[in-house]
Amino acid sequence: MSKNFAGFPDLRLRRLRQNATLRNMLAAPLPGPEKFVWPVFVVEGIGIKQPLAAMPGQFRYSVDTLVEAAGEVRAMGIKSLMIFGVVGPERKTPAGDYGWSPDGVVQCAVSALKIAWPDLVIFTDVCLCEYTSHGHCGVLDGSGKVVNDPSLELLAKIALSHAAAGADAVAPSAMMDGQTAAIRQALECAGYQDTLLLSYSTKFASGMYGPFREAANSAPSSGDRKSYQADWRNLRTAMLESLLDESEGADMLMVKPALFYLDIICRLKESTLLPVAAYNVSGEYSMLIATAERGWGDLKTLVRESVGALSRAGTDIFISYWASQYDKLLKE
Ligand code: PBG
Ligand code: ZN
Repeated sequence: MSKNFAGFPDLRLRRLRQNATLRNMLAAPLPGPEKFVWPVFVVEGIGIKQPLAAMPGQFRYSVDTLVEAAGEVRAMGIKSLMIFGVVGPERKTPAGDYGWSPDGVVQCAVSALKIAWPDLVIFTDVCLCEYTSHGHCGVLDGSGKVVNDPSLELLAKIALSHAAAGADAVAPSAMMDGQTAAIRQALECAGYQDTLLLSYSTKFASGMYGPFREAANSAPSSGDRKSYQADWRNLRTAMLESLLDESEGADMLMVKPALFYLDIICRLKESTLLPVAAYNVSGEYSMLIATAERGWGDLKTLVRESVGALSRAGTDIFISYWASQYDKLLKE
């Protein structure tokens, strides 16, 4: 602080906030729609737009209705989607083979979206849990343990099938060691040099994924994900997860969840020169809606404040369900 004044009454900070024009002049802007990626759930069938009970305002779409919804968000300036496949138990196997089926629902959604809206950037989630009968993100050995190395080959197959369908970016979320390197190498060998790899690099074992697991029908049938997802009690290893993925060839890094981990976003931004994405997860979305529904807060105010916090922490890319309501909640 300058020595020329002692503080109050010379310094009256309320002078800077006395009207909206001044406040707006001094405000850091909220991120524009071009910074958002909208995560979406896609199912087999046609004409489906099924509301998600735990995520009001979000839906499971079939490919045709998803293409239509993508056109609507595109009109608001949202130019990117992240695709999650949702299938019934009849499609699930111990190895999750459906995940790399060339005519699977994600692969079909990617190609239909790229035909309808070639300027959209399409990310795909690369994991096994949506397609394995046991719901884990890797394959199991005889004792029910999630085994790392045999899972890598399967994740690479899924990523390749998404790239072949035309995905601009693949986003591995399984938290298997070496998955970034395995996928980067598979893409390179198959000639997909331009396919981006967004690593879910620091993904915590979090209580905030509940609404997503209901939507994606992907909860583990037994046990939890603590042996592969990062422990939020261990900051140094959480950082190392991201730095390792950078060394393995990721183009972008991610912190997930976002709002409880602003410190990690901030630290990661200082530790890398790669873009940092924040995944503003399902529980963070539903938490604010639940608050507003109970009359304990105003949704628009809560959403703007939370997105402002992510932005201040250093987020470059916002992966957020709010993207589909950008005009209503985030536009100035
Ligand atoms: C699956 C996956 C999850 C999410 C994204 N990919 C759930 C999980 O790890 O159980 C969560 C996203 C959200 O909660 O919005 N690997
Ligand atoms: Zn998974």
